Order: sequence, then C-alpha cells, then structure tokens
Amino acid sequence: MVGLMLIVSSVAQEISAAELQPDHDARMQWFREARFGLFIHWGLYSVPAGEWNGKTSYAEWFLEETKMPVSQYEKFVPQFNPVKFDARAWVHMAKNAGMRYIVITSKHHDGFGMFRSGLTDWGIKATPFQRDPLKELAAACQEAGLKLCFYYSIMDWHHPDWGTRRAWNDQATGEPDMDRYVAFMKGQLKELLTNYGPVGILWFDGEWEKPWTHERGVDLYNYVRSLQPNIIINNRVGKGRAGMAGMDTGAERVGDYGTPEQEIPPTGFGPGVDWESCMTMNKHWGYNSHDHNWKPTEMLVRNLIDCASKGGNYLLNIGPTSEGLFPQPSVERLNEIGQWMKINSESIYETTASPFKHLTWGRCTRKVTNAGATLYLHVFDWPNDGRIEVPGLKNTVESATLLSDGTRVSTVSTPAGVTILVPEAAPDAFASVVVLRVKGSLNIE
Ligand code: GLC
Repeated sequence: MVGLMLIVSSVAQEISAAELQPDHDARMQWFREARFGLFIHWGLYSVPAGEWNGKTSYAEWFLEETKMPVSQYEKFVPQFNPVKFDARAWVHMAKNAGMRYIVITSKHHDGFGMFRSGLTDWGIKATPFQRDPLKELAAACQEAGLKLCFYYSIMDWHHPDWGTRRAWNDQATGEPDMDRYVAFMKGQLKELLTNYGPVGILWFDGEWEKPWTHERGVDLYNYVRSLQPNIIINNRVGKGRAGMAGMDTGAERVGDYGTPEQEIPPTGFGPGVDWESCMTMNKHWGYNSHDHNWKPTEMLVRNLIDCASKGGNYLLNIGPTSEGLFPQPSVERLNEIGQWMKINSESIYETTASPFKHLTWGRCTRKVTNAGATLYLHVFDWPNDGRIEVPGLKNTVESATLLSDGTRVSTVSTPAGVTILVPEAAPDAFASVVVLRVKGSLNIE
C-alpha cells in the first residue's frame, strides 16, 4: 500500500491511493483532452422560471429561497411537460459548439429526479411527460460520440431523511435518518449507473452541509467506482472543497478533480491536478425568464481558452425551459462558439497548459512531441505595430502560421525571445490563433 501511494498524484490523493498512476491517467485521459463541456440545469424549477410573488431572482434554488411548503412546490409537477424536448437537437447543439461532454442534473437540491426512478415518485414519472429525458440523452450522446455525465445533489430538501430537514418540508414525518438517506441515494445512483450505459462523470454537489462527512464521501466514491470503474468523480463527493475556488485543501480529499465555480483560477496547478471551471451564460444556472444578462460570445470563447491555457476544462451552463428548449440567446452563443471552434479547436483539444507565466496579449496552449513543440498563441489584443512578442523563447522556430487560413508569417529571434510579424488585421474577432512550431524541447527563459 505504501509503495502504491508513491506513484499517485491527484486532487484525490487519499482515494486514488489504491489506483496506480498509469491507471489513473488512463481513466482521466478523455477528460484532459476534451477541455470543453456543456452543463445543463434542468428541473421542476423551470416551471416557475425564476419568478414568484413579484420577485424575479429565483432559479434552481427556488424552493429554499421562497421557503415554499413542499406540498405547494409539488403542485408544479402536473405543469411540467417538456414536449418540445429533443435529445438529439440538444446533443447536436453541444457537439456543434465543440463540446465533448454533457453534464446534466439528474437530481438537483430539490430532490426531483429527471429520470424514471423505481425508488420514489418524486421525479419525472409523476409529470404528464411520460418519457425519460436521461434515457433519450444517453442514446443521443452515444450516437454522436459525446460523453454523458450526471450531476447528482447530495443535499436533498425534499427527502425526509436528509439530515438538515427544512422547516418548510411539510411532507416529511418522523426523524431524519442519514443511513436510510444514503441507502436511497445509492439506490438511485445504481439506477443511473446501470440503466444509461457508460457514464463519463458523476458530478456531485450539495456536499457542504453538516450531515455529509468525509467518511460518507469516501464510501460514496468507492461505491460509484464499484459500479463503473472507469467513471470520473468530482471533488464535491467529499468535504475537501475550499469555497468557490473549488480546489481541495487540507487532508480530507476525495474525488478526481477540482470544481471552481463561476471563476477561473489565476494560474493552473501543474500536471496531475485536474480541474474544471463551471460557469453560467447569464447569471443563473436554472432557467430564469427575466435574466437577460447574457455574456458576450467573445467572453465565453476567451474563458474556454483561459481554462485550457491553465490546464483545465470549461463547463458552460444552459438552463432549459419547462418546454424543453434551450433559451434562444444560449443557442446563438453555442453557434458562435462553434464557428470559432470549427477553425480553432486544434488549439484547444489535447493541449496542455501554457509554458509562459504571463503574456500581455493573450494566452497560450501547447502540444509537445518528440521532435519539438507546438505553441498555440491565442491573441486577444491584436497588435497595432504588427509584432507579437513571445518572451524568453530560446528554441529555433520551425514555422509560424495563422490557424485561420494557414498563412505563413515570419519570425525574428531576438535576445528577448521571438517576435512574430503578423498582418494588420486580426484574423478573428474573438481570439486569433498563431501556431508556432519550434524544434527540440521547450527552452523558455
Ligand atoms: C452550486 C449551487 C447550484 C449549482 C452549482 C453548479 O453550488 O448550489 O445551484 O448547481 O453549484 O456548480
């Protein structure tokens, strides 16, 4: 055991202790290469669409924030009938945007299951919608070659056995019993992990309340891996996450990767520490019909690049409506990101973090081969003087081209590094990529 631990490094040092480093790397490979995924927050809360009693700030936290009695919240169930839901269309939009995986809420904090569970009536089964959205998504993802992943909330405001039962849960009786709750949760997870084919990631959340413990996290991690050994599990399965920065600190670590939320870390964490920043397109995760604070596509594209340049993934969220549609501004943004990715995805997929500490004009990703390295220079601020400085680069340049159309550009080696001489106009409005191939192993001063 002690010997094994030596060859393990990850966010999850304790848990992966039983896993050899090469096995861990093999399990993480698709995630590391993908860099870009779609988050979907879809549930019963999409019926009120963020609005209640004149307030319009709600979304997936509707139940907790309104403190509505559970018996009243349950009245939304007959109104949830997403007849316009088209799994293939959703998957197509994600794939077209360049995303390689989808993480969807199988159950959010309100406990409402978006799949047909045999263990409770609190879920899609009780609605007029006589289908299983997750089944349909699983089939569509399989067909399109995307990984389907499930978000699952540990905290559950509806289940009578969740340890911190809410005062407004007027449907629960008796004393909450966490052991019984865990048995229920494992039952649902077993359904999710046996009836929907291979699942890419189990994306836990809602781990922060007291009843959830490190020991329970370790046990749950092992349970999920026992059902699908190759699955990846985020760090919210345990108690190690330090706030919205999302990375594990301290000794109690469980899970395979860190989960920064609504932020991108200022720097990466080095090889072997995996992470994924999840971020919204407007200000809410779940659907809110009043939220028009849509981020410009330029920002979304640059966020993706920023994550990749620091060795992490970007999980971009959409909150579909109760009819089963992506909001139109989300559709438009996915499309525009897709146009950028069609030309530039080579500079994102299968890349690793930038070798530079800081670049004044943008970001860098890289691919290393035996013969040399390819640096993808993502230029956010296209130069007025036609010169892009690559500071400290000592290697011999093999070639420099614009990724947009393959145009060759010239370079000059200077004592300060390499200067690239580029045309006046930026090839791309969001981020222009210069592909710089150099000989030998990277030598940066
Ligand atoms: C949170 C929230 C939530 C959202 C999520 C996404 O912690 O509780 O509603 O699902 O994280 O990261």
